[in-house]
Parts: sequence; structure tokens; C-alpha cells
Amino acid sequence: MKRLSITQLVPGMTVAEDVYDLDHELLIQKGTILTDKLITKLDLYGILTIFVEDIIQPVRPAEDSTDTELSYSERIKSSPEFQLFKTDFENDVELFRENMNLVIQKNTSLDVNTLLKNTMAIVANHSGSISILDMLQNMREYDDSTYTHSLNVALICNILAGWLKLSDEEIELATACGLFHDIGKLLIPYSIISKPGKLSEEEFATIKKHPTLGYQLLLSQDVDDHVKNAALMHHERSNGSGYPLKLKGNQIGPYARIVAIADVYDAMTAARCYRGPLCPFRVIEMFEAEGFQKYDVSILVFNLEGDWLVRFFKELHFDVITFESGFYGYESNIFLKVLPYF
Ligand SMILES: [Fe+2]
Repeated sequence: MKRLSITQLVPGMTVAEDVYDLDHELLIQKGTILTDKLITKLDLYGILTIFVEDIIQPVRPAEDSTDTELSYSERIKSSPEFQLFKTDFENDVELFRENMNLVIQKNTSLDVNTLLKNTMAIVANHSGSISILDMLQNMREYDDSTYTHSLNVALICNILAGWLKLSDEEIELATACGLFHDIGKLLIPYSIISKPGKLSEEEFATIKKHPTLGYQLLLSQDVDDHVKNAALMHHERSNGSGYPLKLKGNQIGPYARIVAIADVYDAMTAARCYRGPLCPFRVIEMFEAEGFQKYDVSILVFNLEGDWLVRFFKELHFDVITFESGFYGYESNIFLKVLPYF
């Protein structure tokens, strides 16, 4: 038996002594074989070292995680709740597609109210036992168009805005910002948007025009300025490394920053959620379900301090979001620190 720091743990090690959390509740029982998820859990609960047996069990991490996630995913997909969500989601995407095509081809006005009402209805009607994030994750194999991505980002913005304790009006505005953020992509040739392989420099330069094109399109529409700015600024990063204007920090609109995070989350989870140890939003959900009740939140935040935030700023170059209404709090703090976990 030996004492190892969390950073030295690998899947397959056997826990040699019961591990307790800061609240003295049993976290992991002696004899448990460690997996990626369990190591993540230890890290998140602020455990610094544990005792493990000297012999490492052979593990098949890929099989282990695939089995678990597949059955979880299949359980969701076979549920009536998911089937209803899928129908509503697809109807909403279809309505969005029709409206967008009319706007782009016939220069009609955006039916913001109907589109937003339908999206808000999805949130209201499907906040049941399966989280919307889980259902979105299971929608991925059906369609991956700009329309679907937009609705995904709108729903994620809605959830983030709720976590950030925004008012109902602000939550609705954040949802609208997500819904229309990529509207400029519909003006880029489809052959470039849908190209599976690596883009040429010229093609990439064309794609990078979509924030400006979207902003210009929205200028003539009756939408809130934040929606226009979110379309223009959702690829900006707080250190000035984004595009198209290379804005920095507070120059980037607050809603554009929420959209940027939702956009990155959607892109990242499309590529690898459920293949890594934990999807970050599931980590937050775990904290919401367990951590906030068990711990003084300030302790939790303290435990999450350290290189996560540094990595966050270095790798993703987002800024901490602050609104005039002053909602910024611990939840958003944790959220920002969990993202770089990917
Ligand atoms: Fe975009």
C-alpha cells in the first residue's frame, strides 16, 4: 500500500483505504478500482492524496466507459421524454430553417418572436427528469447543420443564463443571441460550410466573414442590439486573439461572451463528450446536485482555485462575465473553471 497524490493516480489502481470527503462522508470505498471518472471526482472534491494498493489491475478503459455511456445514452434515447423532445426540437429546427431561407432568399423579416417563443417552449416543456444537455447530446447523430447548431447554442445559452442568475428577460435575450449568432453562415457557400476535410486558407478566410455578414444581415432586422453584437462578436476572445475585430475584454458584449462559451461547448461536446472522463456540464450538474448542499460554496471555489483558471484564460481566452445587474457569482466562477477540463 502506498500514498499517492491525485496527479499520480491512473485507472486500474485499487483504493486501499476508504476515502472521505471534506464533510466526512464516504466518497470511495476501499477495494474500488479507479477509473478516469473516479479520479476526476476525487480531484473535484478537493482530495489531495489517497492510499492505493501496490498492484495495478489491468483495465480496459475504452470498453468500460463505452459500455457505461452507451447504456446511459440508449436509456435516454428509448425514453418517451426524449422522443417528445426530439419531435419538438426537429419541428423547431424546421421552422428556423424555413424562416431563415425566406430572410436570406426573399429578404423578408425575421420572425424573432415566433422563433424565440418556440425555443423557450422547448425549455419549458422539457425540463423533466432528463436534462436538456443530455438530450441535446443524444440528438447529435440525427443532424449537424447550422440550424441545429444554432438551436443547440440557443438552448445552452438559456441554461447558462439561468445558472448565471440572469432575469427572465435577460435569459430570453441570451437565448435569442444564441439562436441567431451564426446566421451569417447561411450566407457562406454551403460547399465550404459542409466541407469535411481541412479548409484551405482562402476557404477559412471566407468562413471567418460570417460574424460580419450576420451582423450586417441583422442590422436591417428588428432585433435587440445584443443579438446583433452576439452575431458579430461570438468569435472574439478576451486577449484579442479572436476575429473579426480582435476586440479585447470588456469591448466584447456580455451576451456575446455567453454565446462564445455555448458555441465552444457545443463544438467540443460534438467532438468528444462522453469520450473523456466527464462532460464538463455534467461536472457542474454534479456540483449543483451534491456540492452546493454539502459544502460552504466559498470552500468549493477555494478548492477549485489554482491552475484551472490560469489554463482557462490561457487556452480559451475568455473573460469572466460580469453584468451590470451584478449577477456574477460562485456558480459562474465554477463554470468558468470547469470548461478547461476538456
Ligand atoms: Fe460562428
